[in-house]
Amino acid sequence: MQQIIIDTAQCTGCGICVDICPSRAIVLRDGRAVPVPKDCFLCGQCQAVCPANAVHLPQRPVQLGLRTMEEGQTAVPPGTTNVSELVALMRSRRSCRKYGNQPVGMAMLEDLVKIGTTAPSGTNSQSWNFIIVPTRADLQVLGGMVADYYRKLNRLAENPLLRFLLRIFGGDGLGHYYRRYYESVVEALRDWDEKGTDRLFHGAAAAILVTGKKSASCPAEDALLATQNILLAGHAMGLGSCLIGFVVEAMRRDAALQKRVGIAADEEIHSVIALGYPAVKYLRPANRQIVVPRILTLAENGRMATRLHKG
Ligand SMILES: Cc1cc2nc3c(=O)[nH]c(=O)nc-3n(C[C@H](O)[C@H](O)[C@H](O)COP(=O)(O)O)c2cc1C
Repeated sequence: MQQIIIDTAQCTGCGICVDICPSRAIVLRDGRAVPVPKDCFLCGQCQAVCPANAVHLPQRPVQLGLRTMEEGQTAVPPGTTNVSELVALMRSRRSCRKYGNQPVGMAMLEDLVKIGTTAPSGTNSQSWNFIIVPTRADLQVLGGMVADYYRKLNRLAENPLLRFLLRIFGGDGLGHYYRRYYESVVEALRDWDEKGTDRLFHGAAAAILVTGKKSASCPAEDALLATQNILLAGHAMGLGSCLIGFVVEAMRRDAALQKRVGIAADEEIHSVIALGYPAVKYLRPANRQIVVPRILTLAENGRMATRLHKG
């Protein structure tokens, strides 16, 4: 089992690491911090707070090793970032469906993967994995494989008897697909075959597939949090991006396709991120529906109760 390393010559015995450890896996002994071999999941909180820089994590570099930008050395304290700019960035990231011909450099794609890994993960499992599809030509081949999957699915979906039988015995999934997507998929496949129009990846220059180990505690959440980091960082790096749920769905349902793209049997796909230089200029940020949160609070009868927030 891997364990943190505490440099006893550096350690001052202040005990801050003991307090912060979520697993209570550090004790003070003879005025020095000592790791105890239990439940440490190498979250690195002890390393981050140690005033003497006495804590080290095995096989975890302190830098991400980014190649396309300078990397900050210090943690940004809460409340010191320009939050308006942060929110503006979040609102300005849009799903881009129009890309220029410029390729996205490999260094940029690798940096995006590294940035993805700064996301939180359940019990710090970091059980995500990333597959880079580096060029437009590669994406076209992948698009062809996905198109074949939908061709097969459409053949099944256009059979009314099969839809009927499945509804009785196995749920209405195929019927729902037929009503909601069949026609638009027929059109998209026709465009793909006859005009070479890419309505799947929207002509993107590259993609990143994000997978997660099925055995992790929260693989979907981990992968999607990493995904959002990639989307935001991509925007800040000048890239447009779009999640492609149609490809995720195809890979989930077709084990052969999953295998062909190199996803292991113990992994599941969670997102496909199309990337490229945008050929569209968004002049205004995204608008969203108004949400009215509910407030969970102590009621007069001493029980917890929810109510709508009046604002
Ligand atoms: C899980 C998920 C799957 C998506 N799949 C697709 C897709 O297959 N094709 C596509 O063009 N957009 C896809 N989108 C993009 C959404 O349509 C888009 O996020 C939404 O319309 C909001 O627009 P915005 O991202 O520009 O703010 C997907 C988004 C999510 C979250």
